[in-house]
Amino acid sequence: MSDKAQLIIEGKTYEFPTIEGSEKEKAIDINSLRDTTGYITIDSGYKNTGATKSAITFLDGEEGILRYRGYSIEELAEKATFLEVAYLLIYGELPTQVEYEAFEDNIRRHTMVNEDMRKIFEGFPVNAHPMGVLSSLVSAMSAFYPDSYDEKAPDSTELHIIRLLAKLPTIATWSFKKSQGHPVNYPKNELDYCSNFLHMMFALPVEDYKVDPVVSKALNKLLILHADHEQNCSTSTVRLVGSSKANIYSSISAGICALWGPLHGGANQEVIEMLEDIKADGGDVAKYVDMAKNAKTSGFRLFGFGHRVYKNFDPRAKIIKKAADEVLSKLGVNDPVLEIAKGLEEAALHDPYFVSRRLYPNVDFYSGIIYRALGIPTNMFTVMFAIGRLPGWIAQWKEMRTNKEPIGRPRQIYTGATPRDFVPMNER
Ligand code: SDX
Repeated sequence: MSDKAQLIIEGKTYEFPTIEGSEKEKAIDINSLRDTTGYITIDSGYKNTGATKSAITFLDGEEGILRYRGYSIEELAEKATFLEVAYLLIYGELPTQVEYEAFEDNIRRHTMVNEDMRKIFEGFPVNAHPMGVLSSLVSAMSAFYPDSYDEKAPDSTELHIIRLLAKLPTIATWSFKKSQGHPVNYPKNELDYCSNFLHMMFALPVEDYKVDPVVSKALNKLLILHADHEQNCSTSTVRLVGSSKANIYSSISAGICALWGPLHGGANQEVIEMLEDIKADGGDVAKYVDMAKNAKTSGFRLFGFGHRVYKNFDPRAKIIKKAADEVLSKLGVNDPVLEIAKGLEEAALHDPYFVSRRLYPNVDFYSGIIYRALGIPTNMFTVMFAIGRLPGWIAQWKEMRTNKEPIGRPRQIYTGATPRDFVPMNER
């Protein structure tokens, strides 16, 4: 690899250093570009622009590789618990037994939410989208923990990290309970993280609720698969908001808002609604593949397909597809949309339009089928993505702060009106 890159502008040659990451990724360091050349770069959607150097997650879109702190997603999804992965992402190493028990116990101590948060929650209409509720309540948490933004207060970041991990599942279930006309549940601290979430979601005051280990295990795997994904849209949002020294609750709330978009985390809800539409329309997948190829006229987008980075199979989609078969058969669930999804995948992967654009199923394509089999309603699918992604957002925010990265403030090229004089209104 050359240690310098040359740029010739208006006949003059400029040199810029290059850097290489631990997985041999290469970059041109253009920190001095504008000062030395007067030029900036333009890169819509940041397709070629690295915002930072990070030691948390590595993914190779060409090879379909995903690793958290060097551990493969396949191994972690099979062998770890979600809290183990959360610890790994946030603190950099897999926990020892002692570290894990302390981490899990610390989280258990903070699963309850200030009762006044319920008053804020009660103000939402019953049909409020759970993602709007979640982002609002996470932002509201800063009001209950003012030391999270008080520059003069001793640093309590670690406690806020525990509070977020502990309380997000609790407040995430409130929307579902309200939509059912059921009372919310308090956490039960003898349960593990995933079982506690399921208990808060599905327990009723009139009978005992027993967590199905198959369901809890499936949820554990799904949360691990969503835990981090380097500089995706919502993570970049968390970093950017955090770079202004905004508190961690506001930064995470902003990440939840970005994740909600149908091109990002909101795709898992769109996928199920799309599959249901295809089923209602007779299940003719070839018709919908054609519509996706002519999106400009059909207005139809094949959600759950395509990815900014993966130009090969999204490794998470492979794992989720296999898990979907296993979980549905263990639960005795026969969901016709699973066959429609497989048919859609088969048709697309043999179609030149998708092959030439290297469009493969992404993490969102099959996840909703499992969530639905676990009893989770469609409008909560992106909330599940947020619960999974939370440790990744936290880890990336913490890394940005630890590395004292500067406030994010991109440049632009102005294309508007050139100087002109003000004209009084009666002369316009
Ligand atoms: C996530 O970044 C991450 O890591 C995100 C994520 C994470 O873990 O954080 O992995 C989670 O967000 C997964 C993606 C979920 N979104 C969807 O499933 C929505 C459907 N997919 C797309 O809209 C699209 O593929 C994106 C948004 C995911 C990526 O968009 P890009 O990289 O900007 O690519 P593009 O939109 O420019 O598409 C390139 C071409 C275009 O065709 P041409 O202009 O060349 O003719 O591929 C086409 C697009 O029209 N295309 C599709 C398509 N996705 C892209 N055509 C049909 N169906 C699709 N789904």
